[in-house]
Amino acid sequence: MKILNFGSLNIDNVCQVPHFVRPGETLAANSFERFAGGKGLNQSLALARSGAKVFHAGRIGGDGLFLKEILEESGVDCRYLCVAPGELTGCAMIQVSDAGENCIVLYGGANQNISATDIENTLSAFSTGDILLLQNEINDLEYIINCAVKQGMRVFFNPAPMRENVLKLDLAKVDTFVVNEVEGADLAGVAVESDHKTVLAALRNKYPQTNILMTLGAQGAVYAGAGAGETVFVPACEVEKVVDTTAAGDTFIGYFLAETVCGKSIQEALLTASKASAHCISIKGAANSIPRRDEL
Ligand code: RIB
Repeated sequence: MKILNFGSLNIDNVCQVPHFVRPGETLAANSFERFAGGKGLNQSLALARSGAKVFHAGRIGGDGLFLKEILEESGVDCRYLCVAPGELTGCAMIQVSDAGENCIVLYGGANQNISATDIENTLSAFSTGDILLLQNEINDLEYIINCAVKQGMRVFFNPAPMRENVLKLDLAKVDTFVVNEVEGADLAGVAVESDHKTVLAALRNKYPQTNILMTLGAQGAVYAGAGAGETVFVPACEVEKVVDTTAAGDTFIGYFLAETVCGKSIQEALLTASKASAHCISIKGAANSIPRRDEL
């Protein structure tokens, strides 16, 4: 069984700020750093650093070669990653506040230029029982999902960042949703202020045949198996100081998937994923804050 992550790779430009910039305000940053990021890249790193074998497919420009090196250093197989020298790599402008919260502006760049040929060539190398992991930062999700399902793959979909395009996809083809509460509410069509039990019940009702993994921030995470499958909740791990929450969800997803494919129970997988994301939020940055298994 192989894992393919078809996902974004970004250059994260991170400003540490006293507060998020307000309309019309010019704000001096306390520091500026550049990190590897992108939900796709972060999730592949989390999978690889937890010990899983993962293939990463996607697209970068000539300015993003260091992202490929970072993936390869952690053992990610990048044979399906396209390098388009004339294009700009995707990038994120991130503000991190003193409270450790972030807000992000994304420029898709090469992430949005994946071609049908790239998709077909990549997916043809995978088959029944293999897993496809997807987020919502690349183009042509519909075609990728269709090709994957045709190959017999199981689709794990993290619809982040959540946008209108997600609701136009044939989501019945998805095996497992990985969402936070806001994404879950949007997917289920309930108010974002709803409590997580309401969101989960609405998701279960709308997508009865899909597994649901919902991260709940400081409250923990909950998994509800398809149909009448088990529901498992784990609380979040204690963290002494939240430095930067960027990539916490990505770390959780990578670790959870890695644990489940190697046969761990859902409860064990949630607990390990929770520990890994607690580690992630105690360090600044995205890719660099994703722990290796021996650091947990
Ligand atoms: O999930 C965190 C990621 O979101 C960042 O690394 C940034 O690139 C954006 O894609």
